[in-house]
Amino acid sequence: MLQEKITQYTAEINAFSTDSADELEQFRIRFLGTKGIIKDIFDEFKAVSPEEKRVLGKVLNEFKQLAEAKYQTLKDQTEVTETKKDLGLDLTLPGEGFEIGARHPLALVRREIVEIFNKLGFIVAEGPEIEDDWHNFSALNFPEEHPARDMQDTFFIKKGGEKGDIALRTHTSSVQVRMMEEGKPPFRAIMPGRVYRNEAISARAHCFFHQVEGLYVDENVSFADLKQTLFYFVQELYGEGTKVRFRPSYFPFTEPSAEMDISCTICKGAGCQLCKQSGWVEILGCGMVDPNVLENCGIDSKKYSGFAFGMGIERVANLKFEIKDLRLFSENDARFLKQYKTSLI
Ligand code: PHE
Repeated sequence: MLQEKITQYTAEINAFSTDSADELEQFRIRFLGTKGIIKDIFDEFKAVSPEEKRVLGKVLNEFKQLAEAKYQTLKDQTEVTETKKDLGLDLTLPGEGFEIGARHPLALVRREIVEIFNKLGFIVAEGPEIEDDWHNFSALNFPEEHPARDMQDTFFIKKGGEKGDIALRTHTSSVQVRMMEEGKPPFRAIMPGRVYRNEAISARAHCFFHQVEGLYVDENVSFADLKQTLFYFVQELYGEGTKVRFRPSYFPFTEPSAEMDISCTICKGAGCQLCKQSGWVEILGCGMVDPNVLENCGIDSKKYSGFAFGMGIERVANLKFEIKDLRLFSENDARFLKQYKTSLI
């Protein structure tokens, strides 16, 4: 009796197929449910003779496993079919590959600069792009009538507020002031960031660009430290053997001040269009922090001395990638940006 039933249901299970979740649920209830066929058969099994039990026990277990396996297989299949129906998608198709973006050349150069100075123990400091007169000019020893404060160069936001004029910062030296005001020496930091100047936009000038400035203040910091730090930086960035030279210059916040040139990265000093046949290109301004600036920030200028430097990231990038038009950096032309695909993400 029991054997016959099992044979009959086995055939039924083997023949069963569906891609409907509802029909499959009916199947589950009918065979595997708490009041289902398998439960009934097991109940009947309890009543059979011990000899029969020996034979039927195995058959019964196989039957149960068959029903469970059928249910599981169809369940997996219908789940895929149902999701496909919901999404209108064929989930068995291979996925579409996606293109990895490119880093902006300025971001690449900025990172390279930061990494080199990190190795020398410089940390990264940041500050606001909207600044007051004190942090952008006065603390940095700019005289009242200095031309850099003029409307020509500075984008003023508010004239004559409580803290003086409010403007878009014209350099990241303002971050140096904030750092010195807020902390205690020694300071060893670089300040990357965007700066703004009121210039007509052309291939060679823009109304905003990016700088990395640096500051090192401690006891007994000398011009020799400045030279060695910048020399190391240039060897790391442009390769061993790149020459440097310092020309005297003027900045209100450093004394003495200098501009640093490097041997032309393109012609290696032989003379080319980039270096205007001179063999040298200017890359940054630097100098010893003026004692007035230290005092303005609450630092004892008799005990401490320091050096500072500042460079334009666009300029460094131009020398690396030979980009001739500054406007490319901010136009977001994908044809330009795609060229800087890199494994660095
Ligand atoms: N702040 C100067 C500029 O924007 C650069 C500079 C920084 C020069 C530090 C000397 C020392 O041009």
